[in-house]
Amino acid sequence: MVKHPHLRRYIKHGTLTQLAVFEAVARLGSFTRAGEELHIAQPTVSVQVKKLAATIGLALFEQSRRKITLTEAGRELYALCQDIFDRIQQVEGRLAGLRTRSGAKLRIAVSTTGKYFAPRLIGKFWEAHPGVEVSLSVMNRQNLLHRLEADLDDIYVLSDPPEALSAVVHALMPNPLYVYARDDHPLARRRNVSFAEVAREPLLLREPGSGTRLACEEIFATYRVQPQARLELDSNEAIKQSIVAGLGVAILSRHAVGSETRRGHLVQLDVEGFPVMRRWYLVHPETRPLAPGAQLFVEHALRPEVVQEIAEPAE
Ligand code: PGA
Repeated sequence: MVKHPHLRRYIKHGTLTQLAVFEAVARLGSFTRAGEELHIAQPTVSVQVKKLAATIGLALFEQSRRKITLTEAGRELYALCQDIFDRIQQVEGRLAGLRTRSGAKLRIAVSTTGKYFAPRLIGKFWEAHPGVEVSLSVMNRQNLLHRLEADLDDIYVLSDPPEALSAVVHALMPNPLYVYARDDHPLARRRNVSFAEVAREPLLLREPGSGTRLACEEIFATYRVQPQARLELDSNEAIKQSIVAGLGVAILSRHAVGSETRRGHLVQLDVEGFPVMRRWYLVHPETRPLAPGAQLFVEHALRPEVVQEIAEPAE
């Protein structure tokens, strides 16, 4: 039993639920909205808060006209709720780590373009689940698909997986592709450049097997033009350096370029039909259930607030 006698009043069935309900009312300033958020009826919200006030022995809210405000006791209790729920979240993160298969690492494999946002995705995940050990492998889309076939990782991040893929697939966020050139390129100052003009420029192309290369070939195919690579490179970084070196133009994911258009000599051309929108996906094998750590990762990565933050390229 609890050592301190004055803590006994809290050791009752349902106190944690009451605190969660009270926290929602205090944060949202409304019994009705708290009920909506927690999917419970408004009278249940009132009962839970009343029970908590009885446990504490003090009123938690003051009702003035149509508005409710926290009493001094309410404010104290609200601060306590935030501490309690933060602590539970932290400990849950460590427990989640312990729950992963015999402490196994969460193995994530991303395409070479996905690597530009994957670390931020992992960072956001660790804020909520700091105990989960993660390994990150980076390779082009085709090699990722081979790894998926061999079932070597828990989660794969790639753009537009093949339609016939036998795997569980979750749409993550848009992957806009643009044409990039050096800032002193004649097309850089033009608006609404036609694709035919772009197609006449020396082209820097990713290697076969790259998702970016595939997208590029599909774009050229829609304009019925055969892409003529001046230089084929197996790295987005090398392509960006080649653009800056004046070797040509390239179609790249905005995630691979990030804010470099502001700092460096790269510019996004204003080309008809661009950006071409592809989409990033989280994929995992369908032949076995997700390990608990991987399940947590997928749930966390798909939260709208996480997606919103990751969708913007890094500064
Ligand atoms: P990649 O990435 O060009 O590095 O293969 C893009 C993708 O996943 O489609």
